[in-house]
Amino acid sequence: MIALGCDHGGLEIKNAVIKYLEENNIQYKDYGCYTSDSVDYPQYAYKVAKAVTANEAELGILCCGTGIGISMAANKVNGIRAAVVSNEFCAEMTRRHNNANILCMGGRVITEEEAVKYADIFLNTPFEGDRHTKRVDMIAAIENGTFEG
Ligand code: RB5
Repeated sequence: MIALGCDHGGLEIKNAVIKYLEENNIQYKDYGCYTSDSVDYPQYAYKVAKAVTANEAELGILCCGTGIGISMAANKVNGIRAAVVSNEFCAEMTRRHNNANILCMGGRVITEEEAVKYADIFLNTPFEGDRHTKRVDMIAAIENGTFEG
């Protein structure tokens, strides 16, 4: 299950990703928004982030104008590692090395085709573990106040 969300700036690329998910029989839940009316991206970041941390979704995809604001909001939820991606290399590496659990993209930055490509890479790339596990654990320690530097 993939959780999806966007604001008005990310609606078109989110809809392109939804088409890709449907064509590939990948289950998803769309938390909105659903129209091009102006909305506040933190609302959708929060819904998708909570779905991921509650294990209602394995991974999330969030889209706004740049991907930045919606990633900042999602990363305020404990357990979220949201990554803004605008090329194929980062789509792959943020799964392999950072174990990112939310992909963020910008509808004013990339094309619909690029969004689908990055989503496909993100959803099909595993976390490598090994030495990267320690680093991801350090991120969590910063988050929960136990990091010792
Ligand atoms: C909305 O105009 C825009 O600020 C938003 O989509 C996003 O780009 C924020 O980071």
